Amino acid sequence: MKYEELMQKAIEVSKNSYSPYSKFAVGACVLAESGEVYCGCNFENSSFGLSICAERNAIGSAIANGEKKIKAIAIYSPNQDNCFPCGACRQVIHEFCESDDTFDVIVKDGDEVKVYTLAFLLPESFSL
Ligand code: THU
Repeated sequence: MKYEELMQKAIEVSKNSYSPYSKFAVGACVLAESGEVYCGCNFENSSFGLSICAERNAIGSAIANGEKKIKAIAIYSPNQDNCFPCGACRQVIHEFCESDDTFDVIVKDGDEVKVYTLAFLLPESFSL
């Protein structure tokens, strides 16, 4: 799937965001090794610390559907250009990608779609 299409799906799913507290909507769409695509949005809670990021929601869906590895993720927020994954989500991506050097993180900068490797966003990542 083209990265522009993956971003389009992230834009669509961001509309389902449940973010009444931060009012910061996020959508994420994961491309799995199988070629299948899994989407997620952030969903918050009145107990703020329980809020779940869009990226981890999308990755959880991929894993629940039997995927073992993910190849790329597109992330979109209507509130902010270049909506990068938070530190926690970067570490979760690391857990499920084949290599930080080849995993692509796709963000939207105005009309442009930009691509960064996970290695760039999470140098010296932690593994057991
Ligand atoms: N959020 C995400 O969904 N992904 C990120 O990578 C950063 C933050 C959400 C969590 C919370 O619902 C809102 O954005 C504000 O932090």
